[in-house]
Amino acid sequence: MTSRCRVALAGFGTVGRSVARSLQERDDVELVAILNREVERKRVEWIDRRTTWTESFDDLLRCRPDVFVELIGGRAPAADWIRRALEAGIPVVTANKQVIAHDGASLLGLAAARGTVLRFEGAVAGGVPVIRAIESGLAGDALTLVAGILNGTCNYILTRMERDAAPFDEALREAQALGFAEADASQDIDGLDAQAKLAVLVMVAFGLQVSPAALAVRSIATVGPVDFVYAKRLGCTIRQIAWAERIGSGVRAAVGPALVALDSPFAGVGGSGNLVAVHGRSGGTTTFGGRGAGGDPTAVAVVSDVLAIARGTGSVPAVQVRCASIVSADAATPCYVRFTVADRPGIIAALAAVFARHDVNIDAVLQEPGYPPHERPFIVSLDAAPWPVVETALGEIERMEFHVQPPLALPVLTGVEDRPVATF
Ligand SMILES: NC(=O)c1ccc[n+]([C@@H]2O[C@H](COP(=O)([O-])OP(=O)(O)OC[C@H]3O[C@@H](n4cnc5c(N)ncnc54)[C@H](OP(=O)(O)O)[C@@H]3O)[C@@H](O)[C@H]2O)c1
Repeated sequence: MTSRCRVALAGFGTVGRSVARSLQERDDVELVAILNREVERKRVEWIDRRTTWTESFDDLLRCRPDVFVELIGGRAPAADWIRRALEAGIPVVTANKQVIAHDGASLLGLAAARGTVLRFEGAVAGGVPVIRAIESGLAGDALTLVAGILNGTCNYILTRMERDAAPFDEALREAQALGFAEADASQDIDGLDAQAKLAVLVMVAFGLQVSPAALAVRSIATVGPVDFVYAKRLGCTIRQIAWAERIGSGVRAAVGPALVALDSPFAGVGGSGNLVAVHGRSGGTTTFGGRGAGGDPTAVAVVSDVLAIARGTGSVPAVQVRCASIVSADAATPCYVRFTVADRPGIIAALAAVFARHDVNIDAVLQEPGYPPHERPFIVSLDAAPWPVVETALGEIERMEFHVQPPLALPVLTGVEDRPVATF
């Protein structure tokens, strides 16, 4: 494109507004249309008066954009609009993790068939340019593992607990007050946001399509400040980690709270930061970190995608995306288990007997002093064992009468950034 690149934007919300501001400041692009529902209430005086404001996608197409930017979020009607733009041969930029996680493979296929492009850098880790780095900078490697902190809300909550021993509810309320977390933060807390982002990374890094729902998720809501005390005694801290490992034409993957080593790059990620580690057979581990969310950082990713298209560098080597033959979470990792019990003699012996029967070896038992006997937390760390076996043993243990809270089991992923999970 030699003249100014004509951009049409759908969604004038947090990211859309930041994108519009950034586009308006440039000489090489022209914002020709903005679409939003009930658009009249969205009008602002700082947008060029020649820009068309509309509620209709047909109107938007009539503006003959060179690039369509989708920032309304959610699957419908976003996926349909993206499809229609690609069918018309119009390049598309989106930050929509749900659309890319669910429909990315078919939309990329459509883009290739129409000789156009679909870019989605903002869909994972906001302003951290990890998608393009994997697609282009690491194209020469065979990637075997991706692991990341992909949800800033969870990281904010966990690091508040770590630093100030803040209870979960208090840290969540604070994240909401600061605008990191939605009023309904369940998508973040329960891991569904990171699950969709992990599905996108699996597609980009391994060329494998997985249904996001097939990736196992565990909530961070059961983690408490006491877990950071015990994790530290094991040389670890706790982060929500989304990881996926390529096993032939299949994937082993999960999202949830996990222990990571205190000297690992994940432990160094504070507040609402994001970090993605990618491991390749030849290049080893490469990490990418930065601001994973927010209007302005995400707008950087979106506008960079637009500029790449405008400059003719938006296309990336076509990767054949195939359906993953198998998706499982059955890793064998060391495990941290916190029990909170009404104390009495014989509890440890009872637990040890169950673990022994399932061939799970105890590495250490730790109990901090100073807790009341009617609600006493202690932890058992287990040597590497298959996760389903540990869960079966814990199912039996959970039926014992001394628990005040259900046991909390967390995988220990020390070194996950450097080696396949299979080698734990
Ligand atoms: N915010 C972030 O930090 C961030 C980071 C990375 C990626 N993203 C992604 O970026 C996208 C936009 O996120 P956002 O935070 O900017 O969301 P947002 O603030 O809710 O903005 C979405 C905008 O789209 C409009 N909209 C929604 N559905 C529509 C429809 N069916 N028809 C017309 N307009 C519609 C909304 O109008 P109303 O005003 O009526 O609601 C709103 O103005 C999402 O895919 C999100 O996952 C966001």
